[in-house]
Amino acid sequence: MKIAIVGCGNMGMAFAKSFLQYDLVKKDDLLLIEKSADRSEALKAEKTGVVVDTISARISDSDLIILSVKPQDFSSLQEALRETIQPQQVVLSIMAGIPIATIQEKLNHRLVIRAMPNTPAMLGMGITGFTAAKEVDLNNLRKVENLINATGRSIFLEDETMLDAVTALSGSGPAYFYYLVKAMVEAGKQMGFDDSVASLLVKQTMLGAFHLINNADKSLDDLIKAVASKGGTTEAALKRFEEGELADTLIAGIKAAQTRATELSKS
Ligand SMILES: NC(=O)c1ccc[n+]([C@@H]2O[C@H](COP(=O)([O-])OP(=O)(O)OC[C@H]3O[C@@H](n4cnc5c(N)ncnc54)[C@H](OP(=O)(O)O)[C@@H]3O)[C@@H](O)[C@H]2O)c1
Repeated sequence: MKIAIVGCGNMGMAFAKSFLQYDLVKKDDLLLIEKSADRSEALKAEKTGVVVDTISARISDSDLIILSVKPQDFSSLQEALRETIQPQQVVLSIMAGIPIATIQEKLNHRLVIRAMPNTPAMLGMGITGFTAAKEVDLNNLRKVENLINATGRSIFLEDETMLDAVTALSGSGPAYFYYLVKAMVEAGKQMGFDDSVASLLVKQTMLGAFHLINNADKSLDDLIKAVASKGGTTEAALKRFEEGELADTLIAGIKAAQTRATELSKS
């Protein structure tokens, strides 16, 4: 399979490196199109693939074209891509908030798959929600699904609007997690630990607790109960969280992200 990646920043390269790691593409068959001169030079030095700075007729060789520029940069490449794209080529967009119908219209092209990954894809531990235009056949869909799975796990959604919820939950999710970690580290510092000790205590706690979620064969409520004994210290913290409506605030925040994703996809 030949693959072109337009926009080789964080996510584009997370995808490229995962494909190479699992031998899903050869370096010579990976066309990296990157506008930024600095990034382009770095990619050439890394020898990750064939690096060019603009879309040209060369892209016509690719079976799959991945669009991983920022959504606001999509307009800068529409014309060049519309002129070069071949009818059998499949487009995989990971740009947040740009609907399949818009991509189809701007590129005058039917075979479009849309995905929402997240940054742990850089370590092969991502989760990606994806959906496809009805014109994409099962063969092409499976091929793209196999590629996405090299970056972690994936979930196919029939309903494109649910990608806004994926964006809010798992796309933005890593930032919520970092936010919680940061607050816990801050609590540690306020109680007298230096930054590195507070970070170690919190990060190892998050890692261990995450593995218990997956391995302890207990519900989240039971896991909480196993730590929070009646009248104890954890209960004191949880009581304060409840008073501050922390869970409701988190849920409301995630829904605000979904609303914003929907707004962006309509603009
Ligand atoms: N980061 C996330 O957590 C995340 C999660 C899910 C989805 N996404 C989506 O993934 C996409 C990429 O995000 P990112 O974080 O990887 O962005 P990024 O690191 O900024 O990478 C985008 C790259 O594309 C380059 N570029 C812009 N216009 C171009 C063009 N016409 N031709 C070739 N290259 C071009 C940019 O160069 P310049 O810097 O010079 O503009 C930049 O190097 C976004 O659409 C985003 O919505 C991101």
